[in-house]
Amino acid sequence: MIGSRLFAAVLLAGGMLAVAAPPAANAADAAAGKKVFAKCMPCHNADKPQNKVGPTLVGLFGREAGSVEGFKYSDANKNSHVVWTAETLDEYLKDPKAFMPGNKMVFAGIKDDEDRANLIAFLEQATATQ
Ligand code: HEC
Repeated sequence: MIGSRLFAAVLLAGGMLAVAAPPAANAADAAAGKKVFAKCMPCHNADKPQNKVGPTLVGLFGREAGSVEGFKYSDANKNSHVVWTAETLDEYLKDPKAFMPGNKMVFAGIKDDEDRANLIAFLEQATATQ
């Protein structure tokens, strides 16, 4: 009897600990990434199909570079055959010119690893088509 009450108390305490556990310190933060996206907004829509100076990013994840219809890409982009994933975006957004020489995106890149991870987490949510 006392034994089972103790058991229940231990379970309860364990459950409370699990609820109170903080999120992993380095988990990407999409809300913070939305602020980083302000740097991209003059040239890109994330959730509308319209192109600006740059192509719309709607449906970005899993699509091949240079595949938005009606957008005039550079040959460097069109012929790169890169598929956009969290990994390729991380490389590209760190240093667009180094990753894809000759591409015409006028953007120096985001050097801060955390900013980039947050931005990619935001893009993954914002550009999803369903
Ligand atoms: C000054 C305008 C400008 C800014 C700022 C800019 N881009 Fe771009 N972006 C472009 C242009 C133009 C292209 C097309 C490049 C080409 O054809 O070589 C492009 C291409 C891309 C592509 C490839 C898309 C595809 O369909 O292949 C991605 C992804 C991208 N940009 C993401 C971003 C993100 C994320 C940011 C912000 C961190 C950003 N861009 C900032 C103009 C810009």
